[in-house]
Amino acid sequence: MLGAAWIANRAVLPALRAARGCETLAIASRDPARARELATRHRIRRVHADYAALLGDPDIDAVYVPLPNSLHLPWTLRALAAGKHVLCEKPLALDAAGAGEMALAAQQAGRLLMEAVMYRFHPRTGELVRSLRGAEIRHVSAAFGFPMAAPENYRMRLELGGGALLDVGCYVADVARWLLGEPDRVRAIVRRKGVDMTWCVLLGFPSGAQASLFASFESPEHQELTVVCADRVVRLERPFTAWRDPDDPYQLMVEAFADAVRSGGPAPLPLESSIANLVLLDRIRAAAV
Ligand SMILES: NC(=O)c1ccc[n+]([C@@H]2O[C@H](COP(=O)([O-])OP(=O)(O)OC[C@H]3O[C@@H](n4cnc5c(N)ncnc54)[C@H](OP(=O)(O)O)[C@@H]3O)[C@@H](O)[C@H]2O)c1
Repeated sequence: MLGAAWIANRAVLPALRAARGCETLAIASRDPARARELATRHRIRRVHADYAALLGDPDIDAVYVPLPNSLHLPWTLRALAAGKHVLCEKPLALDAAGAGEMALAAQQAGRLLMEAVMYRFHPRTGELVRSLRGAEIRHVSAAFGFPMAAPENYRMRLELGGGALLDVGCYVADVARWLLGEPDRVRAIVRRKGVDMTWCVLLGFPSGAQASLFASFESPEHQELTVVCADRVVRLERPFTAWRDPDDPYQLMVEAFADAVRSGGPAPLPLESSIANLVLLDRIRAAAV
């Protein structure tokens, strides 16, 4: 655990405790008291003085990186150089070039690198996507918004990779690509207030399908996925953060990652998908008016 992050405490540490074949051996934080607190709460045996010391621990096979987005790349590169496999939070990097650099480093180190896109591991999302294979999809509407009310949070700081596009836009872009592939047309309107706060994005796909995406830091908690097909309309409530009702996508994700580490098999979520998602986020940024 690199950092005593909210998401680690809320979801990933409990998932690791429940997961087969995984143990959270060590944590490091800039604040030793917080690291000790999480270590006690989640029964983590070792607390290292800092991130670098943790990477030097030879008993650690894999590192989870839940740092602010701008730190995903540097700490993933350091972890890979230290011989660790890496499960890195979403989005993998700030842009496609950064993600490509991370993928190359993983390949050269011979270590597994995967982006922690947990909703892809939820059985109901997988089922939905499978049920739509072969369907004539006309339109995908995806929304993810919440009220970002903490000005000190890294999400509100550009230099730490803040903004709604990287934070929640990555989900709505990903689900559109999962269902429809890569778009050939991108239009985007953004509202900024320091960082990018609200996005309205339109995508066109070679099949003729269309998508509209909403990503926001200034909406009530709001998640939505509606797929309009030629013969039916399919909806999923809270498509992205289902937490543990009744399956735990975080647990399924860490188990799939650990299985791939042990077997030497491919990442259950290929890096090509993470890079392609950032290619789309780059295109959305470039199209913004
Ligand atoms: N998959 C999901 O469901 C999900 C949900 C929320 C967030 N995330 C992702 O997880 C990552 C962390 O999000 P979070 O909400 O957990 O954020 P957070 O609570 O702010 O955690 C980020 C951690 O990064 C460390 N850090 C190191 N340098 C920092 C700096 N300069 N400023 C701030 N923090 C710094 C801090 O750990 P120490 O101080 O302990 O070292 C901090 O606890 C992001 O990439 C986000 O996109 C994923």
